[in-house]
Amino acid sequence: MKQAFEKETGATLGGTDASGMFGFYETSCIGLSDQEPAALIDFCPVTELTPQKVKTVVAKLKTGSPAISICDEPKNNIRYTPGENTFILKDYEPGAALRNLKELEPVEVINSIKEAGLMGMGGAFFPTGIKWETCRKSVSNRKFVVCNADEGEPGTFKDRVLLNTMPGLVIEGMALGAYSVGASEGIIYLRAEYRWLKEKIEQTLEDFREKGWLGDHIPAKQPFSFDIRVQLGAGAYVCGEETALLNSLEGKRGEPRTRRYFPVERGYLAKPTLVNNVETFATAARILESGAEKMRKLGTKDSPGTKLISISGDCAKPGIYEIEWGMRLGDLLALCEANDPYYVQVSGPSGVAVSMKERNRRLCKEDLLCGGSFMVFDKTRDLLQILHNFSNFFKQESCGICTPCRAGNFILNRKLEKLQLGLGSLRDLVELEDWGATIKQNSRCGLGQMSPNSIVDAIHKFPEYFDQRVDKSGSRLNMGFDMAAAVREYEEAVKE
Ligand SMILES: Cc1cc2nc3c(=O)[nH]c(=O)nc-3n(C[C@H](O)[C@H](O)[C@H](O)COP(=O)(O)O)c2cc1C
Ligand code: SF4
Repeated sequence: MKQAFEKETGATLGGTDASGMFGFYETSCIGLSDQEPAALIDFCPVTELTPQKVKTVVAKLKTGSPAISICDEPKNNIRYTPGENTFILKDYEPGAALRNLKELEPVEVINSIKEAGLMGMGGAFFPTGIKWETCRKSVSNRKFVVCNADEGEPGTFKDRVLLNTMPGLVIEGMALGAYSVGASEGIIYLRAEYRWLKEKIEQTLEDFREKGWLGDHIPAKQPFSFDIRVQLGAGAYVCGEETALLNSLEGKRGEPRTRRYFPVERGYLAKPTLVNNVETFATAARILESGAEKMRKLGTKDSPGTKLISISGDCAKPGIYEIEWGMRLGDLLALCEANDPYYVQVSGPSGVAVSMKERNRRLCKEDLLCGGSFMVFDKTRDLLQILHNFSNFFKQESCGICTPCRAGNFILNRKLEKLQLGLGSLRDLVELEDWGATIKQNSRCGLGQMSPNSIVDAIHKFPEYFDQRVDKSGSRLNMGFDMAAAVREYEEAVKE
């Protein structure tokens, strides 16, 4: 698609055309992996691109049509829900969760969340009830609730689908959180790439205000006033990390804070702040609606309930799957019709690389947790190219404050390039692991700490692949080194 855009716009990737009308730039995942190839034009999505579609779209732009008039309404692609055990994606009845507040004290709401065993769905899986309780106990005249809709982990798009199909459910979850902790102000931090969702969310907020479900005197057992606004991010992955997000909300550079205080103690504007993921708030609302017991009956002992998984890559049915925790990896691959998988990246580039020997592993806390991204690759893909792509991502997205993350990811990247060129030895694999350990141990935030995961996992789990890509002789000579090419320039100069 790169060539098609370059041909039609006259702009080369990374620059503008001569007239300055078109700029054409590469970016990381835009949250549309189930309908690739996709692009954002003036922040409006265009999906399932073909060279012909690019031609049509660019022709319309050239005649002055605004991007908004030619963009696509992204599909939701909800492919699977577990029948009567569907918990999150069942039909949404607006207000069904909120009306319970008339009967409940704030601590009773927290107790329900604790009883249900809800874990944070943003990737860290921290117990939500404990977070809400701690925030409640923080004494302050002002508290905030923040919904983390940054969804920057490549291959994840579940939050996009939740916000597109039932923004009201997420808003209800935020209101329950606010009632529980004693907050009166809420913010949805929406990634810039989802700007096209902003109007829909704001319209839903307006509907809620009209119904009296937001604003002053919301019907509840205790006096309750709460309102929400939407604030856009600016496209940085690290701003999904909750403390970098808070800095970004305050208009500061999006850098993770030191761990002196948790956001529930000192968060937005140094006030206690509850930060939860979109899916966490949606599930909290379902708990109030359906009861903690219902959720406890689903999933496994340590991970009750269901989970939204965004599946993309080499399968016939990419999209959203609501699975009960505990489902076997092989069963999920069968559901999405991944016919010849070779490698699955679970939880995005910062997650776990999984080989097909692990088909029987179960997706749950007891075995293999999945934050939401599930990328399937078959044998036609080159493992090193995938790892190099992931590494490019971390290299670009590191905020740069910690040297191990900033420089270490650069070194990992260069080492992968060396392997790609066929110049790698066994020693390089060892060094990749050593650098990985240094980065993990010495980085301030999860970005650095998780960035070497996929490389280190892959080296362990795909020995047959790396055996073919490195020189194992131990000679320390680079077998792939092209001596003839290296001296060609010299020989030509000598000839002259
Ligand atoms: C680099 C990085 C990026 C993150 N991105 C997101 C994100 O896009 N959305 C999200 O909910 N959590 C993200 N997190 C996790 C948040 O820091 C935090 O744990 C989460 O918002 C808490 O909500 P939860 O308890 O409901 O999961 C990220 C963490 C790191 C280290
Ligand atoms: S680990 Fe990386 S992204 Fe995180 S604070 Fe350090 S430099 Fe920034």
